[in-house]
Amino acid sequence: MSDIQQAVREKYGAIAASVTEASTNTGCCAPTHCGCGDSMTSNLYSDAETSGLPADAVTASLGCGNPTALLALEPGQTVLDLGSGGGIDVLLSAKRVGPTGKAYGLDMTDEMLALARANQRKAGATNVEFLKGTIESIPLPDNSVDVIISNCVINLSSDKDAVLREAFRVLKPGGRFAVSDVIVRGDVPVDIRRSMELWVGCIAGALEEREFDAKLRAAGFADVEVEPWRVYNIEDARSFLTESGLNVDRLAKEVEGRFASAFVRARKPATSSRASA
Ligand SMILES: C[S@@+](CC[C@H](N)C(=O)[O-])C[C@H]1O[C@@H](n2cnc3c(N)ncnc32)[C@H](O)[C@@H]1O
Repeated sequence: MSDIQQAVREKYGAIAASVTEASTNTGCCAPTHCGCGDSMTSNLYSDAETSGLPADAVTASLGCGNPTALLALEPGQTVLDLGSGGGIDVLLSAKRVGPTGKAYGLDMTDEMLALARANQRKAGATNVEFLKGTIESIPLPDNSVDVIISNCVINLSSDKDAVLREAFRVLKPGGRFAVSDVIVRGDVPVDIRRSMELWVGCIAGALEEREFDAKLRAAGFADVEVEPWRVYNIEDARSFLTESGLNVDRLAKEVEGRFASAFVRARKPATSSRASA
């Protein structure tokens, strides 16, 4: 395992353990400490969506968007969530694909898997399965999934090409990729980029929006769209950047508008010339 994967696993293992412990000790939920600003993780889901879910699934939500809101899911479809965490998007997808469909969550962190499986039990969801593994090497067969979702996870991977190659491999021809992630827009000086990435919790680094587009096309995807929807403001990160020793007022112009949560959509062509491997 790479140092980055180890760091990611430790960080999310500790978060999952704190949610589980708070819930066991007090019957209530712990505030999450994901390293992300509230401006990233807040107000992503409607009350109608969260009201039907176990409280711990909602508390453990660490995403930066609502990928299930990006697309129509049909009864009977198979959905895969890359880096499923406490399982919020898997449980929401499971409701939409219904008993004849299936929602898989994939995560490499044991504590997150335990939390997600406990949430699945509380939700009584029988069409859900949480798999242990990495998103760089997905433990599912070729052409087996209708829709891939993911919420703020691809930025944590140090091998994004492998993630996109694997996503392409497991999708059925015509299958859709609908992901929420943090992106960088345009050129940003390296030290500022790193500080902002640390603020948003991107341990391995966010992709620049054109780079994301190019990598998806290189993996074989078509109909690629990268749509920033929540652009971060220097004020969101002011105290973090100041604590890192940076002069925020001087940096404001370089940071403003450059970091965003984006919806990223693409499709595996119905007839693909690329061999799945
Ligand atoms: C920021 S959290 C997001 C969790 C969930 N998607 C959500 O919206 O709440 C990142 C999750 O991805 C998992 N993860 C990170 N890198 C991974 C990798 N390379 N393979 C599998 N899981 C990974 C972590 O264990 C963690 O549960």
